[in-house]
Order: sequence, then structure tokens, then C-alpha cells
Amino acid sequence: MMQKELTFDQALSVLTQHGQNHVLQFWDQLSATERSTLLAQVAAIDFDVLARMADELKTHLTATPDASVATAVPAPVVDPDADSRASAAASGEAALRDGRIAALLVAGGQGSRLGFEGPKGAYPVGPLSNASLFYFHARKIVALKQRYGQPVPLYIMTSDTNDAATRQFFTDNNNFGLDPADIFFFTQGMWPALDENGKVILETPGRIFMSPDGHGGTISALAANGGIADMHRRGIDTIFYFQVDNPLIEIADPAFIGLHLEQKADISVKVCAKRDPQEGLGVVVISNGKHAMVEYTELSDDQKQRRTANGELYFKYGSVAIHLFSLEFIAREAAGDMPLHVAHKKIPYCDANGTTQKPDTNNGYKFEKFIFDLLPDADKVLCLAFDREEEFAPVKNSTGNDSPATCRAALQAKWRRWLQQIGITIPEDIPIEIDPAYANYPEELRKGLLLHKGELP
Ligand code: UD1
Repeated sequence: MMQKELTFDQALSVLTQHGQNHVLQFWDQLSATERSTLLAQVAAIDFDVLARMADELKTHLTATPDASVATAVPAPVVDPDADSRASAAASGEAALRDGRIAALLVAGGQGSRLGFEGPKGAYPVGPLSNASLFYFHARKIVALKQRYGQPVPLYIMTSDTNDAATRQFFTDNNNFGLDPADIFFFTQGMWPALDENGKVILETPGRIFMSPDGHGGTISALAANGGIADMHRRGIDTIFYFQVDNPLIEIADPAFIGLHLEQKADISVKVCAKRDPQEGLGVVVISNGKHAMVEYTELSDDQKQRRTANGELYFKYGSVAIHLFSLEFIAREAAGDMPLHVAHKKIPYCDANGTTQKPDTNNGYKFEKFIFDLLPDADKVLCLAFDREEEFAPVKNSTGNDSPATCRAALQAKWRRWLQQIGITIPEDIPIEIDPAYANYPEELRKGLLLHKGELP
């Protein structure tokens, strides 16, 4: 998109009008390049959004927690038996064979909790190969084309913090075997952060601190970058949405797609039983008659611990951020505003001398949009239970739960189960790895091994 250019006077005028003229306080010390970078940043600010941020911050700093969370009840979850899943899978497979499904990977976030430099998708998780998170996702999509004869185009959302590195990583790895024509990179929006007085934070004398606008930025960025038009052109009607951190995922799971299509859902959400009351998963609720997601940080401790008469957690199921969206719904929603979420964070800032300081304590507020805030707008939502051992082993922390070690163990346990199903037992102490494009189901593994031994034509 063409950005309008601003002169210094125009920038000063618009910033002054919005109480943000401190942004130009170091102007006299800036080089020509720094000046044009700063003017471009000012030109890119959406002052309407900035005003919403300032309002949201005031509410955040003064208000009591959202009362609707206290009265929310868990949303109904379906957990069909194997036969019903198999029949739904048949309609999902038909949609895959007709090329109606796209995959949408959100990878614009920063792997800060993991302490990993570079795109989180480049993080190595292959137990033998050290292959990356991106490798496992991309190879599963290669496998889908092999299986169903039609590509599942992959739309990857990056952000300015990792876009160039992500594209380079795909190029360096020959796109993991995907046809480049079926990969669509797009970048999400970047937003400034505010101090407690609602002032935009400068990171250096010539640069406003910016960070990604949250995965809720996906739909407006997809629309603005031509992704929705590209999907329409390809005859896509359903989007499989997933996060970068979970290599155990079953991408474009046919049973999930089949149930979503049968129910004519706008949004479908995969949920699994929480490991323990404190697990960091959002829960799908009904609030004011609508579906909504309550983040783990918003649920009170009493709500997290609450149990039903039979001893189960009241909020038993957590969302693992695996969704299906109807394209029609997304295209409709793309132009609308989404709620803002505020997070108190450590933000590098420029002190009065123009020196960048890295604070030890939270000093500013970042704002994000969350994709699941689309839920209340959906007429029809399906929540489907799944078995976490089979599909969820995210890499979030460097050690402990949801770490690279637990993720590698879960991948290998799954492959061992496949091997056992076809009569092969591998001792626990021997590490194993299976390329998803070689086999992504036990029967594919059996076929592959028979072919290898020359026992199949
Ligand atoms: C997330 C969900 C939580 C869910 C859990 C399942 C949020 C706020 N919460 O938590 O409900 O139960 O995953 O694992 O998302 N991303 C972007 N751009 C951004 C921010 C994030 O693309 O601006 C992407 C990241 O690259 C990542 C995903 O969104 O793929 C999730 O972000 P992350 O911050 O890791 O969320 P979690 O706190 O783990």
C-alpha cells in the first residue's frame, strides 16, 4: 500500500493535535535517513486507533475486571465417536480433493519466552534432524497435496520483526518441497506502545517503538495484502488457522473440516481437556448469549479450580488456537474493528539524553488484537474435542512443560504408536523421526515401508 508522505511541519501539526509532539523532540540531532524514517513512522500511525488505545488504557488502569467473565459458562463441546468422526472425515476429504481448503499460519509473534533469536518457526525440534517447526508444518502440507491431489495453499503471516528472515529461511530450505506458487507471505500491522500517560514511546531519538498488532491483525492484513482475493480466485471456502509453535498438529484434519462444513459453522475451535487447572489455555465460553474466549490470564483462580459434582474441572476444555473459519465470514469481518487488549511490558525507551534504556520492570503498554474475538460475531460455532497426545505439543518455554524436550518426546511417542500399529516396536531409548511427507498416518507408513522393501508395485 502507498503510504502518504509527510513534511516536518505536517508531522508536527498532526502530532501536536494529538498530544504526541514529543516524538519530534530530537529532530535537530537526527540524520537525513533517521528523519525520513521517523516521518514515515508518523505517516503510518492511525490516530483513530491511537485514540482507542488511550481510552482502552484509561479503562484498563481504572476499571474493575470485566464482570461478564464472572458469569460466563463453558461453551458446549462435541466429542463424536470414531464412526461419526470417520463419516465426517469423508466430507472433509472431499473438500480437500476439491481444493477448497487453505492453511493459515500465524508466525508474526516473537519467541521471547523461548529466548530464541529469529523467527520462532526456525526453532529446531526434529529429534534426529533438528528440523524446524516450519519444516514440520510445510511437510504436512506437501503430504496433503500428495494425498488429495490438490494443493492446500499456505498463507503465512509474519511481522516486520521477522518477515525477511522467515522468507529467507523458506528459500534456504527450498520451501521444504512446497511449490512457491502455493505459498503466500503477508505481514501484519505494527503498533506503537504507550506510557501510562498515553504518550507514544520512542525507542531511539529517531524511532518510535513498534510491535506486532496481535494475531487478531491477521484478517485485516490478509485482506489488505490481497490474501482474501487470492483465496477467492483459488475457489477456497474454508481456512484452517494454526499457530507456529505446535508441530504435533494435524493440519487440515479432515474430520474437523467435515464437522465444520456439516454444521455450516462460521468458526470451529479445537479444544482439549486441560492438563491442570492452571494450564495457559484460553477457554471457550458462552457470555451474554454469545460464544467468546476467556484468556487464561482473565479467568479467576476460583473459576480455574471450580469442579462439577463428578469431580471434573468446570472449565474442563482449553483452546489450542486451532480454528476453522468460513472464508465468507472472514471476508465479512475483515473491515471491522476488533477489541484491544492491553499488556504491561518492559519496553526499551529513549531517555531525556537520547540514550536507549532497557528497563528491568514493566514501563509501558502494548496493545494487541486477538483472533478469537471474532467468536461473538459468529452465528454458528463448533467446539470439537480432540486427544492432546495426538495433536498438541507446543514449544513455548525453554524448560519444563511445553518445552522443546516435551515436544520432541510427544512427536516420538506418536511415531512409536504408528509403528506399533503396523507391528514394529522400537526400543524407547532409540530416537526416531518420520518425515510427514513420507508418512503422516500409520497406513502411509506401512505402504512406504512395503514399497521400500519392494513388496508393493
Ligand atoms: C495462545 C492463545 C491461547 C491458547 C494457546 C494455545 C493468545 C493470546 N492466546 O497463547 O488462547 O490457548 O496459544 O497454545 O494467543 N502471533 C502473531 N502475531 C502477533 C502475536 C502472536 O502472529 O502479533 C502468533 C505467534 O507467532 C504464535 C501465536 O500467534 O504463532 C500465539 O502467540 P503466543 O503469544 O505464543 O500465544 P500464547 O500465550 O502461547
